[in-house]
Amino acid sequence: MKIIVTKDYKELSAKAAEVMIGVVKQDPHAVLGLATGTTPLGLYAEMIADHKENGTDYSRVRTANLDEYKGLPKTHPQSYAYFMRKNLFDGLGIAPGQTNIEDGTAKDAAAECARYDALLEALPRDIQLLGLGSNGHIAFNEPGTPFGSGTHTVTLAESTVKDNARLFDDISQVPREAFTMGIRQIMQAKKILILASGENKADAVFKMVKGEVTEQVPASVLQLHPDCILIADRQAAAKL
Ligand code: GLP
Repeated sequence: MKIIVTKDYKELSAKAAEVMIGVVKQDPHAVLGLATGTTPLGLYAEMIADHKENGTDYSRVRTANLDEYKGLPKTHPQSYAYFMRKNLFDGLGIAPGQTNIEDGTAKDAAAECARYDALLEALPRDIQLLGLGSNGHIAFNEPGTPFGSGTHTVTLAESTVKDNARLFDDISQVPREAFTMGIRQIMQAKKILILASGENKADAVFKMVKGEVTEQVPASVLQLHPDCILIADRQAAAKL
């Protein structure tokens, strides 16, 4: 794993943008695996600013997102589909037909997982962006998820519900279940870019980079990926 430590979140976002923009410049048809959460927001703002200033073209990229809350339609302001449209896709002029994400409202969850798996097989990602859960999760693959897992539904860990409650009016509104891309498909991406910011990620960063490769720390699997870049700010990298 290549590790870049930055002095702050702003520098982390700028460095991450260099990597993402580099992939799109190299191949305008690139398939981008994208993530939600607060960590990529600075990166997304940098990508939009670059698109406006330098005209980096996203008209031919395709995207696949990691995860979606179960039960939320894509018009729901807390859905990850809505988050992506508002924080990235509209700013880059990416049309809905270029994007992919699990359907949180799918009645038949198993069929939806199979649909997304087939889609991912047909759409190998040139880069997969990841955030890091404070418990070491990636996407919504919580501790204990088999490394060979495909797209599946998950009951969120209590710590994840608490972490994500800050984005809702009230913790009772946080969905307890979600669809998530599996670890197997995350590892299939040609390149992985994982971002970590802030001291509440320092333990997870340490376990991911220096700890044992174990299903108890889903992100530790990234030690096995041939082209993985971690960009962490000083606080998140404090224990390395
Ligand atoms: C959620 C998402 C993850 C994300 C994680 C960290 O649980 N499903 O994909 O990486 O939170 O979020 P944040 O970046 O807000 O710390």
